[in-house]
Amino acid sequence: MTFVEKVCVLGAGSTKYGKLADSIADITTQASVSAIESAGISPKDIKASYISNVFGVADKQVHIGPVLMSRLGIPDKPSLTIESACGSGSVSFREAYANVAAGFYDCLLVTGVEKVTHTGTEWTTTYFAYCSDFFYEGQAGASFPGLFASMARAYMTEFNTTEEDFARVAVKNHDNGVLNPKAHMQKKITIEDVMNSAVVASPLKLYDCCPFSDGASSVILCSEKFAKEHGGDYIEVIGSGRGGSPAALQGREHMTTIPSTKLAAADAYKMAGITAKDVDFAEVHDCFTIAEVVDTEDLGFFEKGQGVQAVREGRTSLNSDISINPSGGLKSKGHPIGATGVGQVVEVYDQLTGRAGARTVKDAKIGLTHNFGATGASCAVHVFQSV
Ligand SMILES: CC(C)(COP(=O)(O)OP(=O)(O)OC[C@H]1O[C@@H](n2cnc3c(N)ncnc32)[C@H](O)[C@@H]1OP(=O)(O)O)[C@@H](O)C(=O)NCCC(=O)NCCS
Repeated sequence: MTFVEKVCVLGAGSTKYGKLADSIADITTQASVSAIESAGISPKDIKASYISNVFGVADKQVHIGPVLMSRLGIPDKPSLTIESACGSGSVSFREAYANVAAGFYDCLLVTGVEKVTHTGTEWTTTYFAYCSDFFYEGQAGASFPGLFASMARAYMTEFNTTEEDFARVAVKNHDNGVLNPKAHMQKKITIEDVMNSAVVASPLKLYDCCPFSDGASSVILCSEKFAKEHGGDYIEVIGSGRGGSPAALQGREHMTTIPSTKLAAADAYKMAGITAKDVDFAEVHDCFTIAEVVDTEDLGFFEKGQGVQAVREGRTSLNSDISINPSGGLKSKGHPIGATGVGQVVEVYDQLTGRAGARTVKDAKIGLTHNFGATGASCAVHVFQSV
């Protein structure tokens, strides 16, 4: 593959994640303005935007791109909304990346947003189930907690794992989230808290699940030439990979691995010219605690079946062997599904440009983002390097 341009992230911004009162249009604008200010550019420098959103209809606003561009004072600039379930953010980022790399645009805005909590638990669960293979899963009553519970059971059987092992993932991510002022769940928890929390879909309990969150995140993606001319802090995108898996879990050969993660990671590592060992920290898709364990194995950080042992030994904690989810991850930072993949890039930008405060991964040079849709039916992995 030949690329015309090196691609950089020049600025990043996010709203707080949580139950937000402002409208979807307002939070989309807030995150975008904050990324533009962080990049030190003017809205007029932006040539186009990619908006990542799944359930705009829940807050009575789809086709949100032109609304955002109008509010930024650049209504003549094109925009495109992309939906890829919980992986929408990283897929939008990937499309923007490809456009800058190909030389179509030198400066793009990528904003992810979701606003659903006002619809309540029942409706949000129902909406989210539309992201599964609805014929085989959603309509049969298998919502996401149930599907990931099936993976957790399979993992426990195959690798002799306990529920406490999964609980450790939640405790670690809440420890990190406490250090993140933008996190939805800024609360320290213990293994006992997780074990005593309500069963959602056995073996997964309340604290094994990410919450329903609202929020918006935004980044400015540009060519290296543009970044140098505009002078702010930037990081380089050195790898971009995508992969797919059978949409329904029943179509998979194994329940304890996500094929799309392996495919996307292999692509991204190859492009970056690195291996998993070179990654200093990673923001991975921990929608449920079992997912983080499976992710860290599929991304090549640990052998299959060794992910829980790594958590037991504290090897994925902040500033250990490899810091996994320094932001708090989906579990603690929250999971506004359209925003999550973009929010992961915001965290990597903040980490690699010295803006991550108390949760800084020391001496980090290479960060990775991993974000998937549904139970991993679609996935994107990106690798970033400090400049
Ligand atoms: C677990 C779940 C069912 C709980 O939802 P809920 O019943 O609507 O929860 P509520 O908003 O009523 O909150 C009840 C309490 O639990 C807390 N809470 C809710 N979800 C939580 C979570 N995931 N982790 C920790 N605490 C949580 C709330 O803060 C609240 O605490 P409070 O009473 O002290 O204020 C829901 O968060 C869920 O389904 N999560 C998974 C989302 C998902 O599938 N995403 C897509 C992934 S692919």
